Amino acid sequence: MPDQKAVLAMCWRDEYSLGITEVDAQHKELIKRFALVEDAVANRRGWSELHFAILGILRYADFHFQFEEALMRLYGFPHIESHVQEHRRILQAAEAFIDESLRKVAPDDVAQFYQGWLATHIQEDDRQYAEYILAGNPIVWSIARQDGGLHAGA
Ligand SMILES: [Fe+2]
Ligand SMILES: [Fe+2]
Repeated sequence: MPDQKAVLAMCWRDEYSLGITEVDAQHKELIKRFALVEDAVANRRGWSELHFAILGILRYADFHFQFEEALMRLYGFPHIESHVQEHRRILQAAEAFIDESLRKVAPDDVAQFYQGWLATHIQEDDRQYAEYILAGNPIVWSIARQDGGLHAGA
């Protein structure tokens, strides 16, 4: 019997919205992928299903984190370094789950890990940069000098 409470925890809710349409769309996609992992764990599906569900999250998260980091740089978000470190920590933890899934072990805490990612990183850490941008702080970086680097705007 699946743990319905855990499965239901991984649905998009309007209260998760940070008010930036593209970021919300990417978080919806992440949560959809979290739900696949939760379902695989709760219903004791085969190790390969769990493995590829976790791999899918890792790949999407890598893209999503790069998007967020570019956005934070564009707006000069002052706490970008600690946010980037948190992204790295999450990716490392997600990679560890991949290794575990390859050993055909369905870790009991895997669903909890994604719930924590949603509750702590998306709803607290990401909200900080979103509020900073939505407060009307201007773009302070411009992209793509001729040498391909980033440089501070005027
Ligand atoms: Fe995010
Ligand atoms: Fe983030």
